[in-house]
Amino acid sequence: MAGSLFRTKSIDRLMAQGASNVEGGLKRTLGSFALVALGIGAIIGAGLFVRTAAAIAERAGPSVTIAFIVAGVGCAFAGLCYAEFASMIPIAGSAYTYSYVTMGELVAWIIGWDLVLEYAVGAATVAIAWSEYFNKVLEYFGLHVPYQWCHSPWETMQTTGVHGIMNVPAIAILFLLSLLLVRGTQESAWVNSLIVVTKVSIVILVIVIGWGFINPANHHPFIPAATTYTTPEGVTHPYGGIMGILGAAGVVFFAFIGFDAVSTAAQEAKNPERDMPIGILGSLVICTLLYVLFSYVLSGVATVEDFRTAGKEASVTFAIAKYMTGYAWLAKFVTVAILAGFSSVILVMLLGQSRVFYSMSVDGLVPKVFSDVHPKFKTPWKSNMLFFLLTAVFAGFIPGDIVGEMTSIGTLFAFILVCAGVWILRVRRPELPRAFRAPMVPVVSTLGIVVCGAMIYGLGWTNWLRLIVWLAIGLVFYFGYGRSHSLLTKEGA
Ligand code: ALA
Repeated sequence: MAGSLFRTKSIDRLMAQGASNVEGGLKRTLGSFALVALGIGAIIGAGLFVRTAAAIAERAGPSVTIAFIVAGVGCAFAGLCYAEFASMIPIAGSAYTYSYVTMGELVAWIIGWDLVLEYAVGAATVAIAWSEYFNKVLEYFGLHVPYQWCHSPWETMQTTGVHGIMNVPAIAILFLLSLLLVRGTQESAWVNSLIVVTKVSIVILVIVIGWGFINPANHHPFIPAATTYTTPEGVTHPYGGIMGILGAAGVVFFAFIGFDAVSTAAQEAKNPERDMPIGILGSLVICTLLYVLFSYVLSGVATVEDFRTAGKEASVTFAIAKYMTGYAWLAKFVTVAILAGFSSVILVMLLGQSRVFYSMSVDGLVPKVFSDVHPKFKTPWKSNMLFFLLTAVFAGFIPGDIVGEMTSIGTLFAFILVCAGVWILRVRRPELPRAFRAPMVPVVSTLGIVVCGAMIYGLGWTNWLRLIVWLAIGLVFYFGYGRSHSLLTKEGA
C-alpha cells in the first residue's frame, strides 16, 4: 500500500545528495554580467518574433506593449522565488525537485508533468516559428515548402483554401537538435555569446530603424475598445480593453520563458546573494525594455489587419519588407539570424525537458527508460528520442497559436506553485541555509501568484480546459504507474 499523497522527499537528504553529486561543489565562476547574458541568451526567441504579432492581431493591438510590462512584472516576482529555491537545492530538476521537498509527491508529479508543457510543447512552438522563418529564407532563393507541408491539418490558407497536412520543417529541426543532444554537444560559452550578441543586435536594429517608419495612425486608439476576436480555428476571445491586455500578457509571457535558466545557475554564481537578483532582475528589465520598444515599433509599422492576414507568419520580416522601404537587407539579416537564435532556444528547452524527466525517472515516478544513459555519449538518449516523437506530434500537427498558449499557461501554473512552495518552506523549515533569500516573502510570493494567476485568467477558458485535460491525463499516469513505482513507496514512506 503506497503512503500519503503528500509524502515529501527529505530536503536534508537532497542537499547532501546535491553536495556529493557535485565533485567538490560547482565552480563559482559567474558574475552578475555573465548571469544577465545567460538570461538574455535563453529568452529572446519565438515569443518576440512570432507571438508578439499574434497578441497584436488577436488580443490587444498596440496595447501589447502594456502586456509585456505585466508579463515582465509577473516573471520578476516568480524569478526571485525560483532563485531562492535554486540556491538551496543544488540538484537538477528545477521546479519539480523544489516541490517534491515542499509540497509532496502529488504536487511534484503535477509540476513535473506540467513542465512538459513548458519545455516539450514550448520547443514545439519555437520549432513552428522556425519553420515560418525557414520558409522566408527559402523564398530568397526562389524556393518554398508547399503550404500543406509546413502547416498543421487545422490550418487553411485564406486565399486558396488549401489545408495543411503536416509541418515538415518544424519536425526536421526538432529531429536534428534531438540528435545533437544525444551526442551530448555542449554549446560553448563562445557560441552562446555570439548568439546573445546577434539576437540583441537584431532587436535593437529593428527598434532603431523601425522607429522612423511608425505610422501614428496604427497606434490609435492605443488600447482598442473591448470587443471579441474569433481566430481562424474558431476560438473567440476578448480583444481590446483590460481583458485584451491580460490575454496578450499570457500570450507574450512566452517571450520570457527561459529566464529561470538564470535562477538554476545559483550554484555557479560567485556571490549569489548579490548576483542572483542582479542576474534575474537585470535580464528581465533589459528584456522587458527591449520587448516594449520592439512591440511599440512593430505595432506602429504594420496594421492589426496585416497581422491577421498576410503578415500572420514570419511577422517581423513581413513588416520590414512591406513597410520599411530600402531595408530589404535588414529583413534578410533578421530572417537568417533568427533561425540560429530559435535553434538555441529549442536546444535549451529540449535539454530542460530531458533533465526533468531524468530526475523523475531516478525517483521512480516515470519509467527507467527516461534515465537510461547512452554507453558512449552518457546522455539520456532514449528520453531524447521519445521526446522528439512527442514534440514532433505537437509541432507537426497542431497550430502554433495553440501550442504557444498551452506553453504559457503550463509555465504560469508552474510559477504559481514555485511561489507558493518558497513560502511554505520558509514556514516549515526556516532554519535551512539559503544562499539567496527572496526579499519580502510572503509579499513577493503572493504578488507572483496574483500576477501569474491574472495572466492565466486572461488566457481564457479554452486554455484552462486544455490545462485541466493535460493535468487529468497526468493523474491517470500517476495513479497508474508513478505512485506504486515511486522510490518512496519502495522505502515504505
Ligand atoms: N522565451 C523563449 C522564446 O521566446 C522561449 O522563444
